[in-house]
Amino acid sequence: MMPIVETTAAALEEKIRKRTARVGVVGLGYVGLPLAVEFAKAGFRVTGIDVSEDKTRRVNAGDSYVGDIPSATLAPLVEAGKLRATTDFGAVADLDTINICVPTPLRKTKDPDMSFIVSSCQDIARHFHPGMLVILESTTYPGTTDEVVLPMLTKSGLEAGRDFFLCFSPERVDPGNPKYQTANIPKVVGGCTPACTEMGRLFYAQALEQVVPVSSTQVAEMVKLLENTFRMINIGLANEIAMMCDRIGINVWEVIDAAATKPFGFMPFYPGPGLGGHCIPIDPFYLSWKTKQAGIEARFIELAGYINGQMPHFAADKVQNALNDAGKAVKGSRIHIMGVAYKRDIDDMRESPALDVMLLLQRLGATIGYSDPHVASLRLDGVELKALPEEAAGDADCVVIVTDHSVFDYRALVERARLIVDTRNALKGVVSKKIVRL
Ligand SMILES: NC(=O)c1ccc[n+]([C@@H]2O[C@H](COP(=O)([O-])OP(=O)(O)OC[C@H]3O[C@@H](n4cnc5c(N)ncnc54)[C@H](O)[C@@H]3O)[C@@H](O)[C@H]2O)c1
Repeated sequence: MMPIVETTAAALEEKIRKRTARVGVVGLGYVGLPLAVEFAKAGFRVTGIDVSEDKTRRVNAGDSYVGDIPSATLAPLVEAGKLRATTDFGAVADLDTINICVPTPLRKTKDPDMSFIVSSCQDIARHFHPGMLVILESTTYPGTTDEVVLPMLTKSGLEAGRDFFLCFSPERVDPGNPKYQTANIPKVVGGCTPACTEMGRLFYAQALEQVVPVSSTQVAEMVKLLENTFRMINIGLANEIAMMCDRIGINVWEVIDAAATKPFGFMPFYPGPGLGGHCIPIDPFYLSWKTKQAGIEARFIELAGYINGQMPHFAADKVQNALNDAGKAVKGSRIHIMGVAYKRDIDDMRESPALDVMLLLQRLGATIGYSDPHVASLRLDGVELKALPEEAAGDADCVVIVTDHSVFDYRALVERARLIVDTRNALKGVVSKKIVRL
């Protein structure tokens, strides 16, 4: 008789290879929905599980709420029975694989908030059965998969690598990036045991172009934190250089562009009004929280966090100085913000620095309006603001480009605006006395 390890593994392996494995994705947000779509496109029957009734209803209606997934891609998969969504974790009983893509925010104290991972794993554990592959994709500190998820799944007496397979695989999706999307971004995966890693590798290889296996879940968890810490610190450096250049009267954008002509040993990062999104401002603090427990202060992270946190103030000061130079005060001025999403060409407002810049200027006595084709309305200090047409910039005393969406008509903006503070170098190459650059 074949040993149980081989039979369990062989049975799942066969289902994955034949694409008859029933795939589950828990958390259908910016990460989970594109992943579910990719596996459905690869021929698997996919079930998405989310606590949001609104999201599951929209998925089942073929109506996408994620910018990178057109409804025209989603709807045919739903109609063909390849993808469905539910709020009922009972569906886990029929699944062979589960990818967990739930949020991992920070608490106010900058400690990791594990509550979404814990609650989704508790729900999964209730319907867990032998022969499953579970992969955590939510960004988290090294040790989470082995220390938090594994004990919840082994409570049933099942053993990882023998009765089921558990991995961590960092998600690298870059919303709004037309070149790199879920299918062609290499996927790192590390399992609790070599058999787990191999099962994870085999699974992703069915739908994604390149899989990069690593030796453990901790390595895979750390890969993501290195990537995002690298970005956060380099952006912090670019921001500090921008403040230095401003003080001594040098155009930082010209400096970075010229430095970027070096064909080796330099990679350009750009300053801006502050960090935004669910990753760069947050993930490095997962690492600093973890290393603090091991007695190591993450000094680069704390410093970059401080500098990046200064940028909305720096941008607001720029606006104040520009208005003063034009003989006006911020108090009583009308200020129009161009772009409020946290980065170009997306609709995501999470941690957007635009909100900080707007709030700082409002507190100085300005009246704030904004244009953003991706964000119809927002709440500022508890009050709802609705997006205005781009023409409204012509009525303002000062326009601030906070997010450089590509659909904005910058030529018309320069013509109609009285004064522009450009925090993104969106008006690169345009020469005008009206323009003040970060
Ligand atoms: N958005 C990005 O660009 C990005 C990139 C890389 C990694 N990540 C990471 O991926 C993870 C998910 O991020 P996201 O941007 O997709 O978040 P999101 O908020 O867009 O989506 C998360 C989804 O999980 C659902 N959810 C919450 N609790 C749940 C539960 N207990 N059970 C089932 N569903 C639940 C929410 O309703 C939501 O639909 C995070 O750890 C994030 O750091 C995000």
